[in-house]
Amino acid sequence: MIVAAEARAARIPDPPPPTRRLAFRRWDIHSDTDRLAYFLMFADPAVVRYIDPERRYPSVAAMTDMLAKDPPFDRWGYGFWVVSLRVSGETVGTCGFKRRDMQVAADPDEHVSVDEFGYLYKRKFWGQGLATEAAQAVTQWADAAGIEQLWARVIAENTPSVRVLQGTGFTCVQAGPPCPEGRELILVRNAQAVKSSEVTFTAAGNPAAS
Ligand SMILES: CC(C)(COP(=O)(O)OP(=O)(O)OC[C@H]1O[C@@H](n2cnc3c(N)ncnc32)[C@H](O)[C@@H]1OP(=O)(O)O)[C@@H](O)C(=O)NCCC(=O)NCCS
Repeated sequence: MIVAAEARAARIPDPPPPTRRLAFRRWDIHSDTDRLAYFLMFADPAVVRYIDPERRYPSVAAMTDMLAKDPPFDRWGYGFWVVSLRVSGETVGTCGFKRRDMQVAADPDEHVSVDEFGYLYKRKFWGQGLATEAAQAVTQWADAAGIEQLWARVIAENTPSVRVLQGTGFTCVQAGPPCPEGRELILVRNAQAVKSSEVTFTAAGNPAAS
């Protein structure tokens, strides 16, 4: 058992290297500090305004159960990292990507398995370029790991997030139907490698023009 756990851990690569201001590590769901930091970020209505309602946790215990059922690092070797300030160690947010089924065609029954990139940060750290700095580090990590494509979903009205994606090489490939928060866009990094058999492209709204 111990041998199996060690073998699995050995396959999990190191997190992205530190940037000028930021450091990366895995979330520890056994740490009270990490659990509370994660829960409190998702408890801020401004932070989750454009986030999937499924990612709003009713309690720390429920959140821990949900995260424990879906350990992406053990399965894929990557997931969402803690992003913290190098100077103080304070957690500022989370950034990473995870394998999931995404509806990328007009047909709601047609899904493909993609690596979905995402992030969110405590409100007090917004507007300082931290999300862009972290996104650059994480996308470079993906390049080094040989991950050909990252996908992202964003509500067009979430301008700072659209800018983060554009700044790290994502291109809009599909504009979804309006939803209560706005209009969802699907973006891909390395979009030229998208196989046309996998995706039905619709008239794509470029985020820059939306
Ligand atoms: C979206 C989010 C990650 C942006 O984080 P951030 O650290 O403020 O982003 P940055 O400081 O790196 O700024 C990114 C870009 O947005 C721009 N920006 C920042 N705040 C802005 C605002 N209020 N209005 C318009 N543009 C803004 C910046 O000028 C920058 O643009 P540039 O690259 O052209 O210079 C952060 O607001 C957040 O955590 N929001 C809640 C969670 C969320 O929505 N996650 C994304 C889901 S898809």
